[in-house]
Amino acid sequence: MSKFESLPGFRAFYPEDRARLGHILDVWRRACRRHGFREWEGPVLEPLELLTAKSGDEIVRQLFNFTDKGERAVALRPEMTPTLARLVAARANALPKPIRWFAIGECYRYEKQQKGRLRAFHQLNADLLGEAGPGADAEVIALCAECLLGFGLSRDSFALRLSDRTLWFRVLASLGVPDEAAPAVLGAVDKLGRSTDAELLAQVTSALSGASADPARVLAESRRLAAVRSFAELEAAAGADPAVAARLAEWRELLSLLAGLGVGDLVRVDLGIVRGLAYYTGFVFEAFDAEGEQRALAGGGRYDGLVERMGGPAMPAVGFGMGDVTVANLLESRGLMPSYAEGPDFFVAILGADARDAALRDVAALRSAGMRVEYNLRDGRFPKLMQAAESAGARFALVYGGEEVARGVAKVRELASRSEAEVPRVDLVPAMRAVLEEGFGAVQP
Ligand code: HAM
Repeated sequence: MSKFESLPGFRAFYPEDRARLGHILDVWRRACRRHGFREWEGPVLEPLELLTAKSGDEIVRQLFNFTDKGERAVALRPEMTPTLARLVAARANALPKPIRWFAIGECYRYEKQQKGRLRAFHQLNADLLGEAGPGADAEVIALCAECLLGFGLSRDSFALRLSDRTLWFRVLASLGVPDEAAPAVLGAVDKLGRSTDAELLAQVTSALSGASADPARVLAESRRLAAVRSFAELEAAAGADPAVAARLAEWRELLSLLAGLGVGDLVRVDLGIVRGLAYYTGFVFEAFDAEGEQRALAGGGRYDGLVERMGGPAMPAVGFGMGDVTVANLLESRGLMPSYAEGPDFFVAILGADARDAALRDVAALRSAGMRVEYNLRDGRFPKLMQAAESAGARFALVYGGEEVARGVAKVRELASRSEAEVPRVDLVPAMRAVLEEGFGAVQP
């Protein structure tokens, strides 16, 4: 055991682990490209202020922050949305709208390490800016679903829970909750299943200090709304308030667009989702695996005020983040994590010094032609080299002895079947390309 262990919640990836992570990142990237999203990246270290300004208490408590050698207050990014808003704000007028961007980066949160939660994780972000209508929400929610379907997950293995902070704000306003107090009340709603009644009432009371609304009534009505699990229940809960009823028209539009995009069956109405981050303003959603035991696979929603607060023009925005940790757990539990053969295409086995020059020239030629080639750095005997070829995970070996080189040939061996054939070295590159494309039959006599 090494005397230096990695920090809690930080992972190192051995090649086979990195291959599994790579699979997740590839599926995400392909789904985003299919939807016309373009990739961006931001800095890992940011000014502390950028991250504390708009995200809300929970994430601020989890920051990895410190003072750098230039006395700047800095923090590792816990999420990418504030960075995105700053980038867009800086070029808002020049960027063609709508902006469809995605990024994949490591994020850092000083959380208690537990199943599905680490202190460093990879996160996909996909965001659509510059469009205020439900068309943008639908596009982003559909992309979130496609990012999961791309793994081969069946449609019954996960669901997207859809909720609405606009509707929440309107219901709270109808109960006399002032706009400024609403985010703090939603902070309590976010903890409904996790805190005691007394704690919740204390939190709502403190959120409402100075306002005329009755905390006990606000809490009771919030519980009722948070329990809504279908659009019919939502219509019933909306009651007669015209502002709330008007919002239902946007719900109908969104649900119909989601059905049109082919993901309607994956979406469940769930007003219990309010999201922990303070900047959300409209529809919000989270993805969960169907067993519902895990932490969320993804979460997002509309955040219309953020670009403006970063110094840009008013710009509507909607997006989501998806982490690799819960996705990997789900894929493992469903047997959908591929086991990668990361071996080379060819293991070149060099039997003696008299063959080495010729063999290395062929290694270089095969590599220039794009093939993956490994070879023994020291001369060795045939059985040992075949063992080395197998443990490298190669499909084929190319055997170079002094006798073969003198005759101008190389011996090709398929490791699984142990079949062999000779190929003239002058034809090696096209012959090996044929072997990779068509199988060993391409060179068999
Ligand atoms: P979030 O809900 O905080 O949203 O995180 C999104 C996803 O990142 C989570 O559902 C989870 O998969 C993953 N995640 C978050 N924290 C951890 C952790 N400690 N360990 C492992 N995975 C984690 C946001 O970050 C928003 N900025 C998303 C967004 C983008 N909204 C609009 N655009």
